[in-house]
Amino acid sequence: MILRLFAALLTCGFATIAFAQQGVGWKAGPEAAAIERKVDALIGKMTLEEKVGQLHLSGRGEGFDINQVKAGRMGAVMNFVVPQEVRQVQEAVRQSRLKIPLIIGLDAVHGFSTYFPLPLGQASSWNPQLIEQAAYWTGREASAAGINWTFAPMVDMSRDPRWGRVLEGAGEDVHLASVVAAARTRGYQRGGVAASVKHFVGYGAGEAGRDYNSTWIPLSQLHDLHLPPFKAAFEAGAMTAMAAFNALNGMPATAHRGMLTDLLRGKWGFRGFVTSDFGSITELRLHGIAKDDAEAARKALLAGIDMDMMGDVFHKHLANEVKAGRVPVKALDEAVRRVLRVKYHLGLFDRPDVDVAAAPSLMQTEEARKVARQAAREGVILLKNDKATLPIAPAVKSVAVIGAMAVPEDERVWTDPAGLGRRLVQPLPDALREQLPADVTVAYEPAFTKNCGTEFKDKDAAVKAAAAADLVVAMLGEDCEFMGEGASRTDLGLPGVQQELLAALVSTGKPVVLVLATGRPLVLSWADKHVAAIVQTFHGGTEGRAAIAEVLAGKANPAGRVPMSFPRSVGQIPVYYDQLPTGRPQKIRQRYESIFMDEANEALYPFGFGLSYSRFSYANPRVSSEKVAMNGVAEISVDVTNQSERDGQEVVQLYVRQPVAERSRPLRQLKGFDKVFVKAGETKTVRFKLEARTLGTHDDAGRYQLDPGLIEVYLGGASLAQAKTQFEITKP
Ligand code: BGC
Repeated sequence: MILRLFAALLTCGFATIAFAQQGVGWKAGPEAAAIERKVDALIGKMTLEEKVGQLHLSGRGEGFDINQVKAGRMGAVMNFVVPQEVRQVQEAVRQSRLKIPLIIGLDAVHGFSTYFPLPLGQASSWNPQLIEQAAYWTGREASAAGINWTFAPMVDMSRDPRWGRVLEGAGEDVHLASVVAAARTRGYQRGGVAASVKHFVGYGAGEAGRDYNSTWIPLSQLHDLHLPPFKAAFEAGAMTAMAAFNALNGMPATAHRGMLTDLLRGKWGFRGFVTSDFGSITELRLHGIAKDDAEAARKALLAGIDMDMMGDVFHKHLANEVKAGRVPVKALDEAVRRVLRVKYHLGLFDRPDVDVAAAPSLMQTEEARKVARQAAREGVILLKNDKATLPIAPAVKSVAVIGAMAVPEDERVWTDPAGLGRRLVQPLPDALREQLPADVTVAYEPAFTKNCGTEFKDKDAAVKAAAAADLVVAMLGEDCEFMGEGASRTDLGLPGVQQELLAALVSTGKPVVLVLATGRPLVLSWADKHVAAIVQTFHGGTEGRAAIAEVLAGKANPAGRVPMSFPRSVGQIPVYYDQLPTGRPQKIRQRYESIFMDEANEALYPFGFGLSYSRFSYANPRVSSEKVAMNGVAEISVDVTNQSERDGQEVVQLYVRQPVAERSRPLRQLKGFDKVFVKAGETKTVRFKLEARTLGTHDDAGRYQLDPGLIEVYLGGASLAQAKTQFEITKP
């Protein structure tokens, strides 16, 4: 009913009213107090089995038992994406004694029916409002299908592109990642689904980038780098969290009381619930901290896990543990309370069942696709553009598009909402034909049997087509097989036989534009030397190839920036811009300097970098006052001029360095950014407010410390920003 009302409002053009009504989040004041009373009253009515049931999260598919829902022994479900099936579980709830609604979860990671770029690709846009919109539409579509909880955003910090899941994050920088974490959280929840910020904590630091591997993170770094994006998500209202698979400093995150209870609930005051990751409670046995599932269940609950995702161990063992006195009823009640609290704040007790008939019409709406196109467009990063190869010049009359990736079947990495308005992604050759003048011919050769280029279909035909064209567009990269969860790699070249093809294309002598769709920064050293232009995308989603075509044809001006440094070789990893200085900095590249004998120190494409068809210059960096108190604010501004004849967007970035402090501080640290549109020939003044209190760091005990002293400020269009000013932090 409510959904139908939204649909009606949407068609009348009252979209914003509809959005506002649909959002979910923490209620405040008397409403929150009333919820606490309702939760208490409900807990008072529940049997031990019903309480345990609220902590049991089971998933669609084999082994799913709808009778458990009817018996009130299941609190949440996942992976139900078809509205009819969602309706069935909702109806089953009504047969249960207490009729407590289910939380219905899904990994709506970069879209539900409309696919947006992978999160790393969204981060490449450096446009938080746009990222929020993408999450909003994801939430809205998912909630129209009856889903009320998403396992996102993933906010794990990672500096290791060997890890396949860097695609789910926002890159290497804590400031950018925190801004994105908050934006995505707001977007999802405005769209109608509770966010589950994950994976708490340290999952992105797995040794050697191997998935699920142990992490060792000093407390100072945990607080400076890994925790802030979580904090930002909670401050933006995230209602739930997911614990990580890994062991953090020797203690599995799923049993980490220090993190889950002392920090999250104690220090941060988080009121929502924490779910385990998929089967991670039973995995405590394999981590070697529980002899059996009963002990695993007990340890997880007592550490602060409230819900067991797909492990079946709370369901099987918790009641016994309580009866035997090994788990206090109070601890069980507290977990149940957190789950019920979220259910009430989400409004589930008053929400009507999913409107099966209305759902399809709410998928892939014009508005959602517009946002998807803009997100894809703004995430395109131009890494190299020799001799202004791009945009495609009027003299080019024939283009050969090479690579099966150019004509994909689909653009999703996570769950497939089968049948809900699914449509194929526009192939790149078609999109190019649409964007280029009518007299330009566009040929296409897949070269490979599959997207990921593991096997040739017809290499010769591809090379022949390239040789016959004025310009070659090779679309290569990684697909699902090579990226995402469980897809760690030690070789970060193009998978399969793609490099062989690229070399063959280059040897035709025709200018080659390499368009990449990957899940991580690959090692592009060879391509950087040999191809004419490189366009990087992180799988742009439903509108991805259409956006690429706009950029190639010059209808759009590339404005994406690198969210994660591109290494020159795997041996350089970790390579990230905000390194600490060393006592032996690189000066003339000789022995006993902190260098590699056989490799440069610098990234191939540094954090924040990205070319544009415009040319921007920076002048007059200035600070409002030479001295700023520790609790004060520095007002910083810089003039940005578009010196070209093309309008364009620039990502103006502000970095700081404190050259002398109590502890060694990074050479550069991003503290602000602003994506601005600057017309050809125009100068814009970009202003930042920088709070001095945010310039501190944590010590070895995790205590925050802010030191007075000089702060150097660098402004520019990448982490190598050159325009410099400074101020001094003074004691109040
Ligand atoms: C992943 C989570 C995800 C869950 C449910 C796990 O394997 O680590 O991020 O939410 O599966 O699909």
